[in-house]
Amino acid sequence: MKENPFKFGTVVDGQYFTDREDEISKIRSFLESSNHLILISPRRFGKTSLIKKILSESEYRYLYLDIQLIISEDDFASQLLRRIYRIFPFQKLKGKIKSFRLIPSVILNPVTGETEIAFKPGSKDLTPLEDVLNLIEKLGSESARIKVVLDEFQDIFRINHGLARMLRSVMQNHKGVNYIFMGSSESMIREIFEKRSSPFYRFGTLFTLGKIPEEKFRPFLLKRFAEISGEAVSLSDAILKITGCHPYYTQQIAFTVWEMLTLQGYKPDIVEIAADEIVRSHDNDFERLWNTFNRTDMLVLTGMSMNDISPLSDEFNKLYGSGAASTVFSTLKRLTMKGILIKESSSYHIDDPFFRRWIILRRQI
Ligand SMILES: Nc1ncnc2c1ncn2[C@@H]1O[C@H](COP(=O)(O)OP(=O)(O)OP(=O)(O)O)[C@@H](O)[C@H]1O
Ligand SMILES: [Mg+2]
Repeated sequence: MKENPFKFGTVVDGQYFTDREDEISKIRSFLESSNHLILISPRRFGKTSLIKKILSESEYRYLYLDIQLIISEDDFASQLLRRIYRIFPFQKLKGKIKSFRLIPSVILNPVTGETEIAFKPGSKDLTPLEDVLNLIEKLGSESARIKVVLDEFQDIFRINHGLARMLRSVMQNHKGVNYIFMGSSESMIREIFEKRSSPFYRFGTLFTLGKIPEEKFRPFLLKRFAEISGEAVSLSDAILKITGCHPYYTQQIAFTVWEMLTLQGYKPDIVEIAADEIVRSHDNDFERLWNTFNRTDMLVLTGMSMNDISPLSDEFNKLYGSGAASTVFSTLKRLTMKGILIKESSSYHIDDPFFRRWIILRRQI
């Protein structure tokens, strides 16, 4: 049996990666400058895959750290230092670590080749992190800047509220580093970089990643489905109609359709069946999520699932009794913050097409 050519949920590259040519060339040229980059998008649009592809295909020395995985201040420092050890020789770093104010224990694991690092565990002291950041600066230079990617950057607030201020005060002096801040909590990332009172106000250039355009996604699907079906055109069109070209959900349903095609063969409504199957497999999650909403949330989401008219219009209110436009507006904002809705060219829609489908299906029972 042919291997399923679609992949979702993890970072994609190689044959699973499509398009982004414009973004790649823009980001590449940006990284040649002395500026810092802020890359944002709603969840699962492909930020991590994109940046990893650009960096792994470049000659740059780079570190990638997902702040979501960081537990504490000392863990932040250790994880960064561990990544420095991956790109610089042990001997070169030895002398430099000696000047740290707090000396970490550094053990080279002979089996994995990885370096295990520990500062004083549990300490809230920020000096190790400061020293590690300054070490990166010393290792870089203006002609060969090190790229430091901090993914899910909004999570620094979970670690320590004073962290943003300290990071900014250290990073602003760095000339041998390009920082790349990324985040999927778009509104929070905007708060960090666009709010005047924030330490990171205008620290870098904001770059928003959109969906993959239909004219690029369609051939990607067509080529793969054509290998096993004579119906590649209608399959690809039906898939994109459901997902609206969302990178993750498109790959998810394409994966399911492919499985069904190879196991059960073609049926005219196979894409619809696949969509229902995905909805069913998430029934528990959707139900749990639904129960976290208040009455207005539910009215707005129901209306938005059933109809494409603006939830801020009088017509919407007449149909669904959603109440005053100001209440609906704050609901829309809050649901966008939570990642339930996404805002694209000033209109809102439900992020997850399968959640939308779940809402519709439930009302039909
Ligand atoms: N260029 C691409 N080509 C094809 N599929 C893609 C592409 N980028 C992303 N995807 C799909 O979207 C999924 C999510 O990608 P990725 O994890 O890179 O996004 P993200 O924006 O970093 O997500 P998160 O918000 O969860 O951090 C991938 O598993 C893949 O299915
Ligand atoms: Mg990511």
